[in-house]
Amino acid sequence: MERTARLTFDDQTIELPVIEGSEGELGVDITSLRARTGLIALDPGFVNTGASQSSITYVDGENGVLSYRGIPIDQLARHSNFVETCFLLIYGHLPNKQELDRFGARVTANAALHESFKHHFEGFPVDAPPMAMLSAMVNTLACFYPRVELSGGEKFDEEAAWLLSKTRTIAAYSYRRSMGYPFIYTDPRLSYAGDFLHMLFSQPLEEYIAPPEIVDALNLILMLHADHELGCSTTTVRIVGSSQANLFASCAAGICSLWGPVHGGATIAVIEMLEAIERGEMTIDQTLALARKKQNGFRLKGFGHRLYKQFDPRARILKEAAVKLLDRRGVGDPLFDVALQLEERALKDPYFIDHRLFPNADFYNGILMRAVGIPRNMFTVIFAIGRMPGWIAHWREQKAEPAVRIARPRQLYTGLQEMAYVPIEER
Ligand code: SDX
Repeated sequence: MERTARLTFDDQTIELPVIEGSEGELGVDITSLRARTGLIALDPGFVNTGASQSSITYVDGENGVLSYRGIPIDQLARHSNFVETCFLLIYGHLPNKQELDRFGARVTANAALHESFKHHFEGFPVDAPPMAMLSAMVNTLACFYPRVELSGGEKFDEEAAWLLSKTRTIAAYSYRRSMGYPFIYTDPRLSYAGDFLHMLFSQPLEEYIAPPEIVDALNLILMLHADHELGCSTTTVRIVGSSQANLFASCAAGICSLWGPVHGGATIAVIEMLEAIERGEMTIDQTLALARKKQNGFRLKGFGHRLYKQFDPRARILKEAAVKLLDRRGVGDPLFDVALQLEERALKDPYFIDHRLFPNADFYNGILMRAVGIPRNMFTVIFAIGRMPGWIAHWREQKAEPAVRIARPRQLYTGLQEMAYVPIEER
């Protein structure tokens, strides 16, 4: 029996259908609201608004659960790898050996960039932010992809492999450009993560082959960031894709959104906050006090989440991985020690308890990236490489919908009325 929600406004009462998700979440379908009542719904930031139905990823923020295509993230973290997770998210099932080999070979085969990309990179100032180069060059892929206007059609599999693989190469080149280093060609004998580290850190006469524990840690970081429902950047990809823009343009827009310091840029903001504490510029108590007063405009970086009102499961996994890698390397990180103390104090602080603020994925992500040796200006770039399969999966899911409507929200106008043009002499 269809469940409905009743809305009464003035002398009119209407029934709106309620749709139930596979995990029991409920959504009121308001697609007929304006036609039947003249009303629109207002929800800045979409805090209460579902923009679509999706079968890719599920987050239960109340209980700290994250699953990709129904598989809990901790199981994938233990047993899978990034390339297999890419296939799972994009195609909806774990690949059998033949599917995985074919998909992996296609990703490996598409790692190289057209030589003319080098000229584009040479046009960037040496201190250009890698995220600016990444978004620009991912969009530039559309110039080199044959018949990009047919994006998402029967060549989707090749397009997706192109994007997954070349994003990694563009990211490595962005770092090399920012350091004034020569570009290092991809090595198809290496794994996805291993080849990235090779392109990032090798020098012309000194090849870098990352040790297995470093490759595994980067694999884990990429897997944990592979998708997260309709976060700001994924919503951006869907919105751009809803205009029938090609896959490269849509994902380049997602990169731009991810760059923001309250989204993917938070990983860097966490490290800067921990450094300020470690340098003695502020104490942990001063930091927490600053975060408690909203008027300060300061938020505790790496804490809080639109969905998680419990530990972000990724934060737990990243924290454990950081302990394991630092132990394995026999090194410590003073910022990790600060992070552990900060977490312990925040979780006991009434403000953070009342507001249900817990560490999110960004809180320990930077610590693990430092242990891997990732340069700070590449932290958000790594996040973008990890999130690429999620963006591709959502773009493809939306494109497959029978009647995709261009995303075009309404507004409530609060501006001036009945104004007349005034000639400049009279102003
Ligand atoms: C990511 O969407 C995703 O899934 C994102 C992501 C992904 O995988 O794609 O998970 C990745 O972006 C993680 C978030 C990284 N950002 C940060 O760590 C920046 C610090 N966090 C905050 O900016 C904030 O928590 C957000 C942006 C993450 C969430 O913002 P919301 O959902 O809009 O939360 P809110 O502003 O409604 O906060 C509710 C209350 C407010 O206080 P009141 O007005 O109710 O009194 O909690 C307070 C906020 O002031 N609050 C914080 C806080 N986060 C929320 N107070 C202090 N420190 C914080 N970090």
